[in-house]
Amino acid sequence: MMNMKILVTGRLPQDIFAGLKERFDVEMNTEDKPFERKKLLDGIRNKDGLLSMITDSIDEEFFERAMHLKMIAQFGVGYNNIDVAAATRRGIPVSNTPGVLTDATAEIAFVLILAVARRIVEGDRMTREGRFRWWAPMLFLGHQVTGKTLGIIGMGKIGTAVAERARCFGMPVLYHNRERISPSLENEVRASYVDMKTLLSRSDFVSLHVPLTERTRHLIGREELSLMKRTAYLINTSRGPVVDEQALLHALRAGDIAGAGLDVYENEPALTPGLTELDNVILLPHVGSGTVETRMRMAGMAAENLITGLSGEVPPNLVNPDVLATRRR
Ligand code: DGY
Repeated sequence: MMNMKILVTGRLPQDIFAGLKERFDVEMNTEDKPFERKKLLDGIRNKDGLLSMITDSIDEEFFERAMHLKMIAQFGVGYNNIDVAAATRRGIPVSNTPGVLTDATAEIAFVLILAVARRIVEGDRMTREGRFRWWAPMLFLGHQVTGKTLGIIGMGKIGTAVAERARCFGMPVLYHNRERISPSLENEVRASYVDMKTLLSRSDFVSLHVPLTERTRHLIGREELSLMKRTAYLINTSRGPVVDEQALLHALRAGDIAGAGLDVYENEPALTPGLTELDNVILLPHVGSGTVETRMRMAGMAAENLITGLSGEVPPNLVNPDVLATRRR
């Protein structure tokens, strides 16, 4: 493997980088910002492996240059930035980093649920600006979270972890998923399967945990928002394009829903103009997995996937198993 060359498009922790350098000839982005497109397209020409970030577009144009590429290890559980079908056609395995970011992302979903309902960010702003002048019984009220109904759309690992946390707050959980989860898991996390309409109309918080695919793009649009209660909140820690942001802006302005907690955006990092003017929305910079512990684990996992894949073995966390029949060597 010593003669193999790899490209790493994000800055990794020093010890993970050192581990890769012992095995490969490594070119790494050393800045904490997305790797420039031109550098990606030039850099991949002579590389055997890629450790990619969610901000890289791994598309046809990329693959046309990646003549020697034998493995892509994505740093992230989501991989909608990669044309996986194009990778499979060329015999290139693609892996991701599931599991290690489940807790961190479930935490952020709950941070947003609590923060938007209890007006935490607004309250902090008001206090810093010297606008906290007295206490009064009916001033600056939020809404209680305990006992409210939580609707989870997408009941994979992260959705399930959010349901587990809801139990501490005595929240009944409704969920909708492509496939129903097993009765024993439903029982364990105390979640009831319902159709989308029922979930949207009965939940006080709707939390999104689906991957971005052609089926889930704009899963939440004008019609879905209109089914939600006027007192309900929308929480998105999945991918921005799952929500039609214009429709959301309209619903927030019109008071069709009470508020939103967003960690991801339709045209990330750009925001739909108007969103920042609203007090009933909390805006985070895509930090669902953003803890020291989780990012270290993601880096270790992505590096392991790449090392195993380039050694000719079946890489763990393979997202395109069909590739094994036609794999590039
Ligand atoms: C992912 O892994 O898909 C997150 O969005 C970034 O960690």
